[in-house]
Amino acid sequence: MTESPPARVFADRSEACRTLALELVGLVVSIQATGRHAVLGLATGRTPLPFYAELIRLHREGKLSFARIITFNLDEYLGLPARHPESYHSFMRRELFDHVDIPAANIHIPDGMVTPEKLAAHCAAYEDAIRAAGGIDFQLLGIGRTGHIGFNEPGSPRDSRTRRVELDPITRQDAAPSFGGLDQVPTHAISMGCGTILEARKIALLAWGDAKAAIVNEALTGPVTDRVSASFLQEHPDATFYLDAEAGKAL
Ligand code: GLP
Repeated sequence: MTESPPARVFADRSEACRTLALELVGLVVSIQATGRHAVLGLATGRTPLPFYAELIRLHREGKLSFARIITFNLDEYLGLPARHPESYHSFMRRELFDHVDIPAANIHIPDGMVTPEKLAAHCAAYEDAIRAAGGIDFQLLGIGRTGHIGFNEPGSPRDSRTRRVELDPITRQDAAPSFGGLDQVPTHAISMGCGTILEARKIALLAWGDAKAAIVNEALTGPVTDRVSASFLQEHPDATFYLDAEAGKAL
């Protein structure tokens, strides 16, 4: 039998992000006190924006340093160079890394320009680097309209690892406005697998707004199925959903 992960419903996203950011500072400090770097799995999309803003604020106030933090991003679009404005490399620089003291060598994001011949080795090296860093202490997640985490679209196996994935038409549609049209949206990505994500010791999934209410409810209370990769979180010992009132209203 599985127990659903706890869902914490906050008045609004700012309160949710403030709470989670303070919890993360506590976790980072306790890990660093043992003499090792803290390893964070990071996400992209509109959802984590207020959370990253909060981390930057804490950094500016001297309450959070990234000097001894190692990061691994969930995914990257295939075919986009790092400098493309819609690449997740650009996103992470713009929304977080350019504003904090993280050493460039501590940042890991899959390379969207890897050639087909080198792709399998690149994905295996990504998994090796996570392992070499000691595994992910804290994984941040959003949720797509298809219930995906990372880019693990419906059908992604529970034990999948970092690999090339094909984007669902719904996911591409959702990305179309920022790319200036559906035909500009990449068709494939590299994504950590469900298995990679589920190995993180602690997981926080964020979701805001009405549009996420139904899929959040399905992920939390529906069957555990590869049709909704976020439902696998029901089997994780330390996964929590951080929701605003609108995203939590169907629970
Ligand atoms: C993309 C990302 C996911 C993200 C999802 C939802 O598919 N790969 O990590 O959770 O979009 O995006 P948003 O937060 O903008 O709703």
